[in-house]
Amino acid sequence: MAKLRYGMVGGGPGAFIGDAHRKAISLDGTAELVAGCFSRTPEKTKEQGEALGLDPERCYANYKEMAAAEQAREDGIDFVVIVTPNNTHYEIAKAFLESGIHVACDKPLVTTVEEAEELKKIADEKGLLFMVTYTYTGHVTMKYMRDLVKNGEIGTVRTVMAEYPQGWLYNENDWGGKQGEWRCDPAQSGRVNCLGDLGTHVENAVATVTGLKIKRVLAKMDVVVPGRKLDDNDQILVEYEGGATGINWTSQFAIGCDNSLRLRIYGSKGTLLWFQETPEEVTLIREDGIARTIKRGYGAVTPDAAKYGRLPSGHTEGWLEAMGNLYDSFGACVLAKKEDRFTLDLIDYPTIEEGVAGLKYVEACLKSSENGNVWVEV
Ligand SMILES: NC(=O)c1ccc[n+]([C@@H]2O[C@H](COP(=O)([O-])OP(=O)(O)OC[C@H]3O[C@@H](n4cnc5c(N)ncnc54)[C@H](O)[C@@H]3O)[C@@H](O)[C@H]2O)c1
Repeated sequence: MAKLRYGMVGGGPGAFIGDAHRKAISLDGTAELVAGCFSRTPEKTKEQGEALGLDPERCYANYKEMAAAEQAREDGIDFVVIVTPNNTHYEIAKAFLESGIHVACDKPLVTTVEEAEELKKIADEKGLLFMVTYTYTGHVTMKYMRDLVKNGEIGTVRTVMAEYPQGWLYNENDWGGKQGEWRCDPAQSGRVNCLGDLGTHVENAVATVTGLKIKRVLAKMDVVVPGRKLDDNDQILVEYEGGATGINWTSQFAIGCDNSLRLRIYGSKGTLLWFQETPEEVTLIREDGIARTIKRGYGAVTPDAAKYGRLPSGHTEGWLEAMGNLYDSFGACVLAKKEDRFTLDLIDYPTIEEGVAGLKYVEACLKSSENGNVWVEV
């Protein structure tokens, strides 16, 4: 398979997720980093580019210069990865789409529904691919649960309890360093913090596994830790189309919780339980009440999910592999586009539609919370 070329915006020295994307993409060796604008500060981009062994000519002072220069090159990038704070995603993604370059952007897609829809329109008009990296949906076990629900193994989904508590921002005197400071700052994070950072993961995880579409929400979004300006604890009642219900909880001050995304899905014939910190297993309980633990790597997992596994059972896979799985499908689609053989059924990654859905969820929750916790249609 020909190697794809990609560029990155964000992911400079000391940044979190950019480095994880680079490592995840390198797992299967299908794409190579050749260009970047890793920081707003050109010296830092130069430093990061050198550390990654890039051609200095392809380490750009800003993303606009990068998009134009890469578009003009014969050997320009096939896709760009955007891993900057939320309020910059829109303008950066727009610049690359307008230069005819496929985009992978971290979540939340942008900060308003209007921006999200505009990016979708440009991508659609130009026939460009757009992935939103909801990392957790890349886990083999998430894909397996999606198959179980689709195949009717737990019957009709009746209610979903979903939560993603973290504890790293519990202390009023600790703003969480570089990563926490922009998340807690309305100028850089948008109108929400916790709900954009964690709540969109919850909304997307439930939608991916169950296929349910949210009809309306009733949200209580609170700012609890003294000094914070944006929400740090959100409790959302959800009603899905078709009548299923659910509760989504996210928090940043739940001491002892790290990345505790948890799903409990109750259907008419069974229950599914999943916890992202032990992502190698799914618990399935049927009407007999017996809890079965199904592990990735065994023959029980459906072939469509199992094909993403890289290691035999017992050699644990985790979050980086989940991110790598998103890029496996995205890369295959980019290559198919290049070779003029792309079809929609090749897509097995979160698309821009899911990014738009995340923003619609956020805006409905905000409206609900600001209006005294009332039901709001999504
Ligand atoms: N998928 C996930 O599970 C997941 C996890 C963490 C973060 N994220 C998302 O990833 C994004 C980045 O988060 P992070 O924690 O890595 O933040 P970070 O603060 O660690 O890194 C942001 C990087 O972007 C750079 N940057 C900022 N503006 C820029 C610009 N205009 N041009 C070029 N570089 C610029 C900064 O210098 C820094 O290197 C956010 O949107 C966040 O929500 C997703």
